[in-house]
Amino acid sequence: MKILVVGSGGREHALVWKINQSPSVSKIYCAPGNGGISRLAECVDIQATDVHSLSKFAKQERVGLTVVGPEVPLTMGMVDEFEKEGLRIFGAGKKSAEIEGSKSFAKDLMRKYGIPTAEYRTFISRDEAAGYIREKGAPLVIKADGLAAGKGVIPAKNIEEALDAVDLIIVKKAFGEAGNKIVVEEFLTGEEASFLVFTDGESVIPLPTSQDHKPIFDEDKGPNTGGMGAYSPAPIVTEDLHRQIMKEIIQPTISGMAAEGRKYKGVLYAGLMITDGKAKVLEFNARFGDPETQPLLMRMKSDIIPVLEATIDGNLSQIKVEWDERAAVCVVMASEGYPGSYQKGFEIYGLEETLKMPNVEVFHSGTVIKDGKIISSGGRVLGVTALEHGIKDAIGLAYRTVKDIHWEGVYYRQDIGRKALNCK
Ligand code: AMP
Ligand code: GLY
Repeated sequence: MKILVVGSGGREHALVWKINQSPSVSKIYCAPGNGGISRLAECVDIQATDVHSLSKFAKQERVGLTVVGPEVPLTMGMVDEFEKEGLRIFGAGKKSAEIEGSKSFAKDLMRKYGIPTAEYRTFISRDEAAGYIREKGAPLVIKADGLAAGKGVIPAKNIEEALDAVDLIIVKKAFGEAGNKIVVEEFLTGEEASFLVFTDGESVIPLPTSQDHKPIFDEDKGPNTGGMGAYSPAPIVTEDLHRQIMKEIIQPTISGMAAEGRKYKGVLYAGLMITDGKAKVLEFNARFGDPETQPLLMRMKSDIIPVLEATIDGNLSQIKVEWDERAAVCVVMASEGYPGSYQKGFEIYGLEETLKMPNVEVFHSGTVIKDGKIISSGGRVLGVTALEHGIKDAIGLAYRTVKDIHWEGVYYRQDIGRKALNCK
């Protein structure tokens, strides 16, 4: 069977890498892909948001299954469009993806179905938002309702910062139409974890737990990024907490979405804040996480294709997925300056050696190949992912590999995974 993976990040490289191991796969295309992906798949020069050209391509090439990485094509309705054309595709439909595409929709759903989350209100008027902010007091979190590439969430330590955030989103339109509406939310403290599940709208198969590292600097300092590293499992999610999350968060979300006429098929990702052993939802994503997917798929022992197919066909209850007991750690190597402005176009050295290393995969995000050389082309450039017995050894192997890879202006956090070691 021919597969098309849509997207160009480390998540998509990990998907292509995992799909490539399936005996049922004869060829993989990736649109648009990146330098690393091009070693395993034929990269096709079509943007991930060009739904029409992608469905035309899938038809022409007789693609048997398309797998969508990023959120934007999902919220645009790529899955619905493909299905209309009789094409098989893995991902959340447009009405389901709204759980990520509109934060107010997700919050209202959680309120309606009693799913634990931060207290909130939504506003379209700056003055009404300001009144609420003064009444509530700080700290608060101000969020643009729509998609803003992870930048639309502004924590505010005091009332002035909260009011500035409202102005930035509603008046200055810093995130465009995504800021027509805002959510003003209680500020939660604790430790974050990512909880991903496969679901066909009824049955649920949880992936192992994981944890991202959003801020750019060590000890979670500095501005948020797309994610600077991840590990799995996340020891903060104990067995008890796992049960609570499934019962109080995942199950009611899946059944609530079905009750709303938005039966959810695909991967559902709950971003959680854990406080005193209890989880609350910070946000939902309608897709695999990046970089969480890199360590998660390193730990997936089963063939991924039957899981994707069963999700589409509504047969997940008949599937068993096996996971590696070992821990996986992914350290993201980025361009200096990211998430602000940064330079690209530098040759990356040391990658050849890593290809031979057992239990290590270097997933590419912002790279291109020019004249046979691998060149940096984005903010997040590589995700060095290692699998070992225990988080400590996985951290060791990941960082030993990171030290062998260089380019001008490379930056990475030094403390990926450390929280898991402190968690007892
Ligand atoms: P989101 O895109 O909604 O996941 O938000 C991005 C990041 O902002 C999260 O990973 C948290 O670090 C932070 N965040 C979001 N909502 C809250 C909240 N209510 N309290 C504290 N931090 C939050
Ligand atoms: N790792 C965060 C995300 O995928 O949104």
